[in-house]
Amino acid sequence: MIQNDLTRPIELLRPPRVAFGGGTVAEVGRWVREHGFTRTLVVADAFNAQRVDRLALEGSVTVFADIKPEPDVPNLEALLAVAERAEAQVVVGFGGGSAMDLAKLAAVLPGSGQTIHEVVGPEKVAAKRAALVQVPTTAGTGSEAGTRALVTDPATLNKLAVQSVHMLADLAVVDPDLTLSVPRAVTAATGVDALAHCVEAYTNRKAHPSIDLYALEGIRLVGRFLPRAVADGEDREARAGLALASYYGGICLGPVNTAAGHAVAYPLGTRHHVAHGAANALVFPHVLAFNAPVVPERTAAILAALGLPPATEPAAVFDAAYQWCRALGCEMRLSALGVPEDDLPRMADEAHAIRRLLDNNPRDVGRDDILGMYRAAY
Ligand SMILES: [Fe+2]
Repeated sequence: MIQNDLTRPIELLRPPRVAFGGGTVAEVGRWVREHGFTRTLVVADAFNAQRVDRLALEGSVTVFADIKPEPDVPNLEALLAVAERAEAQVVVGFGGGSAMDLAKLAAVLPGSGQTIHEVVGPEKVAAKRAALVQVPTTAGTGSEAGTRALVTDPATLNKLAVQSVHMLADLAVVDPDLTLSVPRAVTAATGVDALAHCVEAYTNRKAHPSIDLYALEGIRLVGRFLPRAVADGEDREARAGLALASYYGGICLGPVNTAAGHAVAYPLGTRHHVAHGAANALVFPHVLAFNAPVVPERTAAILAALGLPPATEPAAVFDAAYQWCRALGCEMRLSALGVPEDDLPRMADEAHAIRRLLDNNPRDVGRDDILGMYRAAY
């Protein structure tokens, strides 16, 4: 069941400065100069490292160009070694969620004496040690708006989740033009990830009226603009709509967070290297339909916001959401994503152990419920 209780206290955090719009990327350099910073560390993947000039930075700029998808602890440690040497006054996350999440950690860990394992959980980070600027180049994670970073522990294949108010960006620059080059399949998958953040916050045990506003508007924006951006990657209005939806999704993640959708999706990434967005797209209709009986009004509102016909019966909800994802070109079969069938029980065990998310789900999810979703998706 959903509390959605106006009397329940909630803390709303978002970056104190947000620049939004086409061409705003150059704000990064202007802001860094305005603050008198002369040493900058840019945290990027290989693609974005080639266009660091777009940030218009001056002074000493160190670029860590090796952020991997689904980054793990060794990837983080390589970054931290570079960060220790750079002694940057400001860290810029320039990429998707992986780059922005690791930038958060690079702004708080170097020189702190704290290891990644010591800061896992809520508010264990001692202090912010460098200013933080976040520049998303995909429209999906919303990491620029939030205070969480996820890193895969190769020993356990679990996601280590660090949350800290010290990892909130001082400036977020959301320039939708940076997403014009995102390929069609990635556009679709990351767009459904943004949608999943909004939907899982809206149908969450900890749902709150102060967040519902962003969640519903984020869903509307994805419903209106994701099909357009998939059809035409150069559609600047659609790209802007998705960048805003992603940012709104990020706001939802702070005080409410995701639920069963992300928990069920995680083992696809940690065990089989399926990209986060693609994993969430595959799982999305299954969890929406599973939850529909306990949150029928909210499920109906989600379908309406997406522009889909009304439905509350799980089978009809599933069909509507599944066809919508399929029409975007999302791969909806686990077998086609290289997941071996004999691993489904282990994946279900792992997903079921992610209590920090499953406990948010409006309907109790058993291990066999999860296995049933994987089998249905195979
Ligand atoms: Fe996500």
